[in-house]
Amino acid sequence: MAKREAIVVVGNGMAGARFVQALTEKARDRFTITVFGDEPYGNYNRILLSSVLAGVKQPVEIFLNPTEWYEKNGIRLHLGVRVVRIDRDRRVAVGQPARHGDAEAGRGLLLEEPYDYLVLATGSRPFVPTIPGKDLPGVFVFRTLDDCVALLEAAERAECAVVIGGGLLGLEAARGLHGRGLKVSVVEIAPHLMVQQLDPLAGRILQQQLEKLGLRIFVQTQVSRILGEGRVQAVELQDGTLLDADLVVISCGIRPNVELAREAGLAVQRGIVVDDQLRTSDPAIFAIGECAEHRGVTYGLVEPVYEQAEVLADVLSGARPHACYAGSKLATTLKVIGIDLTSMGDVKSSDADSQVFVEADPLNGRYRKLVVKDGRLQGAILLGEKESAQKLLLYFRSGEKLPGHPLEIWYRFSRDGESSEDGQQDAGLSAASLPDDQQICNCHRVSKREIVRCIRAGATSIEAIGQACKAGTGCGSCQGMLGHLLAHYARHAVQQSGALGDTSQNKVELIKREKDGLDSLPDILHYARTGNWEEMTEADKQRFKWHGLFFRIPTPGYFMLRIRHTCGQSNARQFRVIAELSDKFGKGFCDLTTRQQIQMRWFTIRDVPEIWARLAEVGLNSKQTGMDNVRGVCGCPLSGLAPHELFDASPVAREFTSLILDNKEFTNLPRKFNVTITGCLENCCHTETQDIALVPSYRELDGQQVFGFNVFVGGKQGSGGYTPAKPLDVFVRREEAAQLCAEIVRIFRDHGSRESRTRARLAFLLQDRGVRWFRQELQARWGKPLFSAGPELRKKHHTDHLGIQPQKRKPGDYGPQLFSVGLLVPVGRITTDQMRGVADLAERYGNGEIRLTVQQNIIIPNIPEDRLSALTDEPLLKELPIDPSPILRGLVCCTGNDYCHFALIDTKGWALQVARELERRTQGQKIAPLTIHMSGCPAGCGLHQVATIGLQGCRTRIGDQIVDAAHVYINGKSGPQPQIATDAMYDVPCEKLADALEPLVRYLPRS
Ligand SMILES: Cc1cc2nc3c(=O)[nH]c(=O)nc-3n(C[C@H](O)[C@H](O)[C@H](O)COP(=O)(O)OP(=O)(O)OC[C@H]3O[C@@H](n4cnc5c(N)ncnc54)[C@H](O)[C@@H]3O)c2cc1C
Ligand code: HEM
Ligand code: SF4
Repeated sequence: MAKREAIVVVGNGMAGARFVQALTEKARDRFTITVFGDEPYGNYNRILLSSVLAGVKQPVEIFLNPTEWYEKNGIRLHLGVRVVRIDRDRRVAVGQPARHGDAEAGRGLLLEEPYDYLVLATGSRPFVPTIPGKDLPGVFVFRTLDDCVALLEAAERAECAVVIGGGLLGLEAARGLHGRGLKVSVVEIAPHLMVQQLDPLAGRILQQQLEKLGLRIFVQTQVSRILGEGRVQAVELQDGTLLDADLVVISCGIRPNVELAREAGLAVQRGIVVDDQLRTSDPAIFAIGECAEHRGVTYGLVEPVYEQAEVLADVLSGARPHACYAGSKLATTLKVIGIDLTSMGDVKSSDADSQVFVEADPLNGRYRKLVVKDGRLQGAILLGEKESAQKLLLYFRSGEKLPGHPLEIWYRFSRDGESSEDGQQDAGLSAASLPDDQQICNCHRVSKREIVRCIRAGATSIEAIGQACKAGTGCGSCQGMLGHLLAHYARHAVQQSGALGDTSQNKVELIKREKDGLDSLPDILHYARTGNWEEMTEADKQRFKWHGLFFRIPTPGYFMLRIRHTCGQSNARQFRVIAELSDKFGKGFCDLTTRQQIQMRWFTIRDVPEIWARLAEVGLNSKQTGMDNVRGVCGCPLSGLAPHELFDASPVAREFTSLILDNKEFTNLPRKFNVTITGCLENCCHTETQDIALVPSYRELDGQQVFGFNVFVGGKQGSGGYTPAKPLDVFVRREEAAQLCAEIVRIFRDHGSRESRTRARLAFLLQDRGVRWFRQELQARWGKPLFSAGPELRKKHHTDHLGIQPQKRKPGDYGPQLFSVGLLVPVGRITTDQMRGVADLAERYGNGEIRLTVQQNIIIPNIPEDRLSALTDEPLLKELPIDPSPILRGLVCCTGNDYCHFALIDTKGWALQVARELERRTQGQKIAPLTIHMSGCPAGCGLHQVATIGLQGCRTRIGDQIVDAAHVYINGKSGPQPQIATDAMYDVPCEKLADALEPLVRYLPRS
């Protein structure tokens, strides 16, 4: 038998490992293979380090080939051994074991491996500019698993981080740290982010999007020094700005590892120079990966590295001895949760022969650019969508002509799912037209053929494909294409199971498609048994919100539960149980929300079954209070009791709630859905911000005056700001109202966009299709005449039902007059002692009922007149006053940065501090009623766009300091004359807010 030739590979990273794997498959018995890797582990998917940092993957999940794989394939693996010299005369690679992190330790123990062929796959190392302070403890680079683990450890103790470098890697690191609750700033020397992959406008939109997520970005500036005594404490920018930093990540590019080659006398420029067969200046030595320079280009992405590895395996194995590597077409996807960004090819072309198509929608964070030459795609940027990315990549890589006019391309792609379902042929490239051996999953080298085989063998979800052949379980960028393949090849099975609709969808759509959120209950119970919350996948965490269980990024391992209270109706027993559970498992407080719900925090996954069981005993649940569901249904907190209501609408709210709960017809909406159903005439619950608002009215029908509702649709806050709900010109009787709401939700379910989540609310469907279309659609589904709207009966003013109010007397009720007493809960945060206190008062003075308001306050109803003065003397009412100042009375506030990773400031802390100061300054003076609402970011959970004074948290610079601040808006309104708030002031430092707001509080006309 011929002697086997010896191949020695230096570097067990992405290129080295891929080469060895391909060579083993192509010529198992021809070579003895030896691999040196100076990292102490087997080989792992380096690009997934970003996902490890972001908490989406665990380190164990990113390993590619375990060490047993090497053994099984007869490959000798020297782990933790660095090749320090190549003796080209003797054809020997000389390795030196080095205990990790202690290069000196292994000195002297040299290890020689002879070779016939040597493959250098030594990769790159991070480039660290000579910034003073760069060697301080707390300064990191981000290249290896060790770096990642060190960063994670440091992040646990840190509050703020600075990332130097706004390229792909820097942004992924920044978002990963931000997701772990750190305040993160990114400093980029270039005029915009990701300067290699984006043009200036795309760079700016990306910046806005990241800022919306809560990152602080500084472009066109550089770090002059890193400061700290004994450890990093701050970073100073060129202009003197100081940024607090407990840790710093330097991500300023890479430099190929060429020293070994240079010392061996090989031709080296920026990288190790290779020809089209990856051969260096020595015919027995090859170089692949980031260390190689081919036709003057060194690469820093994984695809070229893989292509080179495959070509070299072809050449050396003899499978294709004349195979050539001709260079790669570069494409990259930003792996940042919450942002979809793909860039490919030449996106800045100034070539006179090229056509450039741009569609920019900065407000909604979208940007699309196509660069086309001779009908072929040269480059593209897709920001804010990923639906067409996979298909564009196919055109880009194949060089095939685009079908039709380039401007049509997006629409063509978004119709692809539909057209294949109704049997029409899709023009141009499609999932079906791809060649069978096309590699779809690059991380695990899975071809279309193999994936289709899995689908035909019964895999009907992306998760199932992953389990069967690993495709899609690496970086995840091929999951869109897996969806297309599923749509095409599993059409029949999928249509039957209803598991799959249009495939041009966002990440959450994929998660929902894999499994309905409600079906995650067994998974929750599994984790409750093991307690291993670290093993939860991103999809698990999202799906658990269908049960109202929220993993909170700022408090890893601790959860929040949002408990449903339709129309804010609660009682003393429920309050006691929630308080008791929060004491046992939480930290002794709860939050009252702007949708009249109660949130418990700080419990672990193990506690969940007991919490749910105890809540169920008192008729409470947390189902469907998050994600793409109909959230808690709001209504007048004094439904049935308010003196100025037309009728009690809470039975309708409860009927609608029971229609949607546990009903999978309504658990896969394109986005969240807010509903308010009220019979109150005093505008107590922000109806115009809702997806559906039913407000009281009447009609003469069949000669009788019938009470019912006028219907408003498509209101929202959050992404893209406040859109007041629009009148649908429909009146509905009370007994049919719940069904009508359900029909509206179905229209949204069936027609709402499932592409970008920032454009998925009902408001956008109405914007795109119009109110007239919507009414026609409702009419068609309703199947009987829709009545046009009745008169607008609501008063102009709004009430909060606080203080002491006489209740409505029912006809024939001659008992004592009853009163409701509204208690202020400052910024909605209530201690468990206070909750028990409220429960006691409700039972001792009333009938045990308690109501919650959308202003985050509490009402105890049904107090007889002769008990009022005793109640008002109760000590608890000093903490939860019934007669607060106008300032505190109208104060509403979102969660803020304690528990929300989007928050730019501590909203609850600042709101209280500023309100107390304003109270002090205006004490004893008459202040007209007003509302002050604060949100910590543009998402607007604090409803700041519908307040007399709206505050949106931000950060601003004063001299060399960045401080908490707020933008100020005035005179926003919901109700019959809704009004979008006017911008009044920007970037007011929180320390100065009281000064800025005082004149507004005193003199601003209330509209
Ligand atoms: C956090 C992160 C995220 C990334 N994300 C993406 C992405 O989304 N998309 C993308 O395309 N690319 C991404 N990349 C880049 C991608 O990981 C690299 O392009 C790829 O790893 C290059 O492969 P390589 O084998 O050339 O180098 P490496 O993977 O770095 O492997 C080289 C190996 O050789 C070892 N070595 C070096 N010298 C010696 C020696 N003398 N003896 C023994 N061993 C030695 C090194 O320790 C290393 O283990 C990312 C990189 C990082 C760090
Ligand atoms: C971690 C992030 C977030 C936290 C902690 C949070 C918290 C909350 C809470 C507690 C409520 C009251 C909800 C209820 O009781 O059912 C709420 C409402 C709201 N949230 Fe958020 N939210 C977050 C993210 C977002 C995002 C990303 C958006 C939009 C882009 C958003 C927009 C809103 C809006 C508009 C409301 C008011 C709904 C209404 O009209 O009553 N939130 N939020
Ligand atoms: S408004 Fe407040 S709670 Fe809502 S996302 Fe922003 S910071 Fe978080």
